[in-house]
Amino acid sequence: MAEILVLNGPNLNTLGKRDPGIYGSVTLEQIQARLRERAASLGATIECVQSNHEGVLIDTIQQYAERVEGIIINPGAFTHYSYALRDALAGTRLPIIEVHLSNIYAREPFRHESVIAPISYGHIAGLGWRGYLLALEALVAFLQEQK
Ligand code: DQA
Repeated sequence: MAEILVLNGPNLNTLGKRDPGIYGSVTLEQIQARLRERAASLGATIECVQSNHEGVLIDTIQQYAERVEGIIINPGAFTHYSYALRDALAGTRLPIIEVHLSNIYAREPFRHESVIAPISYGHIAGLGWRGYLLALEALVAFLQEQK
């Protein structure tokens, strides 16, 4: 059974309250519950971690690197400048799918660049909470094709 790490970065713990016009009104707990349900139906399991701290995200990636088969990550604002997070993800050699609730390309110019995208298998932006489910489906299908 495929085990997948679902990581969320800074401020994503406030989903539901934070700029609902941009990020929607669904909370992170609700997204994680929907992901768990979908994972079960796909025959996969997920581990969900959220942190506001770059070092904790990196420690978590290193800790899970040998155990999981892929990573889904919404790096929050770290997307745009964290080479340390990028290096940690690249170091795992696992397939990575980057998810953004909002369409970062339709927002402020500083959000248009992702330093994570070039080391990712795929990238989803602008589909709200559904992006996480689509990422999970794509990752499980990709992992099955590898076997
Ligand atoms: C985000 C987009 C980032 O620019 C922002 O800093 C976030 C959330 C998104 O999900 O749309 O925290 O990653």
